[in-house]
This record gives sequence, structure tokens and C-alpha cells, in this order.
Amino acid sequence: MTPTTAVTRTPSAKRIVVGVGGGIAAYKSCSLIRSFTESGHQVRVIPTESALEFIGRATFEALSGNPVHTDVFTDVPKVPHVRIGQEADLIVIAPATADLMARAVGGRADDLLTATLLTARCPVMFVPAMHTEMWEHPATVANVATLRERGATVVEPASGRLTGSDTGAGRLPEPEEIFALASLLIERSDALPRDLVGRRVVVSAGGTREPLDPVRFLGNRSSGKQGYAIARLAAQRGADVTLISGITSGVAVPAAVDVVHVQTAEQMREAVDKQALGADAVIMSAAVADFRPTTVATSKIKKGADEPDTIPLTRNDDILAGLVQARRDGVLAAATAIVGFAAETGDANGDVLTHARAKLARKGCDLLVVNPVGDGKAFEVDSNDGWLLTADGREQALDHGSKALMASRVLDALTVLLNRPSK
Ligand code: CTP
Repeated sequence: MTPTTAVTRTPSAKRIVVGVGGGIAAYKSCSLIRSFTESGHQVRVIPTESALEFIGRATFEALSGNPVHTDVFTDVPKVPHVRIGQEADLIVIAPATADLMARAVGGRADDLLTATLLTARCPVMFVPAMHTEMWEHPATVANVATLRERGATVVEPASGRLTGSDTGAGRLPEPEEIFALASLLIERSDALPRDLVGRRVVVSAGGTREPLDPVRFLGNRSSGKQGYAIARLAAQRGADVTLISGITSGVAVPAAVDVVHVQTAEQMREAVDKQALGADAVIMSAAVADFRPTTVATSKIKKGADEPDTIPLTRNDDILAGLVQARRDGVLAAATAIVGFAAETGDANGDVLTHARAKLARKGCDLLVVNPVGDGKAFEVDSNDGWLLTADGREQALDHGSKALMASRVLDALTVLLNRPSK
């Protein structure tokens, strides 16, 4: 079966080559291909011969709407081994096996995928998947370093259950995560920098839940998407990341990130304070509840004569302000960068920026990420816009873009802070 190739493309549609290596994680490439085509991109799938042991050619052809070959001798008049690479806007190899990366490093061109890699000049992203021993082998470590030196993005794998009963680093990240990183490469049209290697970064994300009785709580609409995007990207830029996650919805645990789960603002404060010790940066993107019910009923509050008219509230500690104070007191190192978020609507007393500037001064953090909210903006959606305000008075407007792109801009600003000369 040779499906016809779609030729109409929207202006933002890209030509994406999905290379598939011969590993069990090849099945996850099907969801990835579908995400690309559903976003309007044109996809060419190039499996290795061994990838076809795991997934049939017909599946890749049906999902991509394009013919699928592994060798350089099919369709020779169209010179596919040169043309596909030259025309590609992005190449994503998922899963990238140890063997496939070794062949790419060696400059081999003994099948259509490796030949395509040699002719491509677009961003290339390898998404490795293999057993931990293979991932940690010096040969693979050296090959990954070489691919990165040559400008490719090599994604850090996830940890967890591998093919057998064993667990460890080497799992293919979830397709949504690969899609988010690939989309970011398209938006940035550049490799992901490795500028956070050796840095320890703590990120808080999601909302908190303040219990009222055993079944009810006060909560908020934060999905955690922005904080998870920051944690994911910081890890892919080389940082050692701890994500302190409150309540979230619709987010996958990022690869190569340690996650601490909390529920209440008080639990979040304890976790952040503990993890901040020795961190290079703390990014407070969590929507922390400002108040909690003063008392928590031990049994369900019932309707009737004893029902309460009001719920008395107690102010929660301000975690961000506490971090700034801990740095002043020398509990945290003077060089620790502290980043806050401000979700603002603007009101009769001032617009979004006026409130944000006041918040930056009040909280005393180094960088404030400002997102206008309301009218369906920021909460529970995949895109964002706003401003970055720094303590030294600089203000950068951020165009509307994905939360991954917003994460990338926040981390660009963070690296500037981290690399500033110490006072
Ligand atoms: N924050 C915090 N601890 C709290 C409340 C907020 O650390 N108890 C942090 C958030 O994680 C965010 C920043 O403070 O980084 C700003 O949060 P926001 O809710 O916008 O600010 P508030 O302090 O609640 O200010 P206001 O109520 O005036 O908007």
C-alpha cells in the first residue's frame, strides 16, 4: 500500500521526519506520529529494518499518510536518501537505540535513516531508549556527548520500568513529552542548550488543597502545566531537578526529574524549604493557597442545626517571601536565584504590570514571571504570555506561545541570573 502524499501545508506546518529505531519502545512512536499529523505537520516515517520487527510498515504508512521505506534503493529517481534530509524542518528519532546513535556518530549511511541524518541540516533530536547498562556504558556516554557537541539534542531518558522486570534510567519519555520538546525545537529552531549542567534547580508546581473536613477542601484552578514544563526543560538542559508538585491535572511526570508530592500549602512550604538548601535556583510556579480553614473538622460537616455560617480562615506562610528572608539571613547561599510567578488580572487600582511591579518589590525575588489571567488565559490551557521582570528593573514582554516556550524563556533569564558575577 502506498498512500498519497498530502501537499497542502499551513504556514506553520513543518516537514518532520520521525526516525524509529529497533527497540520495544517503538510502539510509543505511533502516538508521537499521530500528535505531529494532528498538529498539521507533514510526517515522513523512516524506521530501521529492525524497527519493523516491532511495528508493521502499514501502521507507519497509515499514521503518517506517506510511504515508508528503510533502504536507499526504493524510489531511486526521487533520490530519497538525499532529498528527505535536505527538505526536513526537524528530525526526531524515537526510540534512538544505542546502535542507532553509534551509527550516527560513525557517519554511517547504510540505510535510509542514517543517510537522511547525514544530509539533514535541520535540528535533530534523539530520544534514547535502552537498558540502563547500555545507557551508562562508556561507549554510549561518549556517543551522546559527541552528538550533543555536533549540535543535536539528545533527550535525557526517563527512569522506571524497562522491558523486563528491571527498572532504571533508559525508558523512553512519554509521547506527549517528546512532542512538547519537539514542538519547542520547532519554535526555537535551535538545539536545547545544556546550560544548566551542574546546577540544582527546585521547581514548585500545581495548586494546593486546604482541607475543611475529611471530604472537602479549598483549592484552585492551577493545572501545574507551566511548572511541569519548566521542570522538564530544566532537566533536559542538564540541571538536577526536584519538582515539588501540588495538585495537578493533565500533566505527565517529566523524565529525569525527582518529584515530591504534597497537598497543602504547609506541606509545600516544608518541602520547598528543605529542598532549597544547597539549590542554585528555586522557581515558585505553584499556586499556593493564601489561606486555609482555621479548623479542620474530623468528621464530615453536616447540614442542619450545627451547620456553619462562615468558614474562618488563617493566612498561610508566604513561601517565596520566606525564601528571600532565608537568603538574607544566610540560611540559603547568597547566590541562590529565587524566581516568583504572578498571575494578575488588573483592577481599579492598576493594570497587570502595575500590580506585578509592586509584587516584585514586595516579595524581593530576583525574577518575576507575570501572566495575565482571566478570560480563559493561563489556567488549564497550553499557552501563555506575559512579562519577565527582574529586580534590577529590566522588563521583557513575552509574546503568546506554548508553555514550553514560556519555560524556555524563563530558563534563559534564569541562566543570566546564575551566571551574573557574585556580589
Ligand atoms: N506564593 C508563595 N506562598 C504563598 C502564596 C504565594 O510562595 N502563600 C508565591 C507563588 O508561588 C508565586 C508568588 O508567590 O510565585 C505570587 O503568588 P500570588 O498568588 O500571585 O501572590 P500573592 O502573594 O498571593 O499576592 P496577592 O494575593 O496580592 O495577589
